[in-house]
Amino acid sequence: MKTVGILTGGGDAPGLNAVIRAIVRRSLPRGYRMVGIRHGWRGLLDRETVELDAKATTGILHRGGTILGTSRTNPYKTVEDARRVEANFTGLGLDALVAIGGEDTLGVAAKMSGAGFPVVGVPKTIDNDLSGTDTTFGFDTAVAIATEAIDRLHSTAESHDRVIVCEVMGRHAGWIALHSGMAGGADFILVPERPIDLDAVCAAVSRRAARGARFSIIVAAEGAMLPEGEVKKTVATDAFGHALLGGIGERLAREIEARTGFETRSVQLGHVQRGGTPTAFDRWLACRYGLLAADMVHDGSYGMMAAYRGGVFVPVPLASAVAELKTVPADLIDLASALYA
Ligand code: F6P
Repeated sequence: MKTVGILTGGGDAPGLNAVIRAIVRRSLPRGYRMVGIRHGWRGLLDRETVELDAKATTGILHRGGTILGTSRTNPYKTVEDARRVEANFTGLGLDALVAIGGEDTLGVAAKMSGAGFPVVGVPKTIDNDLSGTDTTFGFDTAVAIATEAIDRLHSTAESHDRVIVCEVMGRHAGWIALHSGMAGGADFILVPERPIDLDAVCAAVSRRAARGARFSIIVAAEGAMLPEGEVKKTVATDAFGHALLGGIGERLAREIEARTGFETRSVQLGHVQRGGTPTAFDRWLACRYGLLAADMVHDGSYGMMAAYRGGVFVPVPLASAVAELKTVPADLIDLASALYA
């Protein structure tokens, strides 16, 4: 009997459990033994596993988070860990591994695959910034949560004649800001891909006021850049070298209030965007990714990632999926701005 491992790494995203369930349901009837690796790559370093049978994966489709736990552990950070993780792959008797994650987790998967291990990837990130696939699961849920927040901020901003800056996630890519900002009718959208032009933001607020709308909603991605760079919560970085971002909303609020004279507040949505039940679209997308990943294991399509491209689900090389981030193109940023001109 062949043994297949599944792990979830990096920040959690709504839909992870739906992927796990789909992989297990497709694989058990084919005679595979399914094993969950706990807490991402950390579980492979520590040999922390759990059996994934039908019972373990029942009732999880709609649940947020991941039943396997996750971490931002980078097993290729030291030579010793790299050796250990590779030795444990063999030691645990894994015939294949499905790694569900974003650029960091799949970057490790690509390295393992390069070292000759049978690995398949599934794209996950609420930021939607992975190349090789049109969309990642978790993104739709994050956009829905942010849009609902923006809707709610409208009525309170209008009642108080205030500007409210809504800070959403998006470290290097502004997809959540762009989509929720468009869907929520933001009066300005700020993304990491384009440096912040505070004069333009304040001019938009004043223009609206001159037209009689004495309130504005500004949506800013956490990675949106001031001339001096991103606003970081800590100087320390994680195991993959990423700083923890956060605080751009508050910084902007102070500047906008000082420059326009409008009372300004900020809201940081933070991890609320990642928590709770996935949307129907994300559940469906996660199911399809899981089914394809299981088929890829069955067919021996290793070194590949399950992808959704142009309406069809296809395997693409893991290496190409993690080669560069998918950021928001300039023409799309310009197009969105037509809605708040
Ligand atoms: O990777 C997805 C993400 O949600 C980013 O948008 C955000 O910057 C980061 O994770 C937050 O990381 P953590 O969960 O470690 O606070």
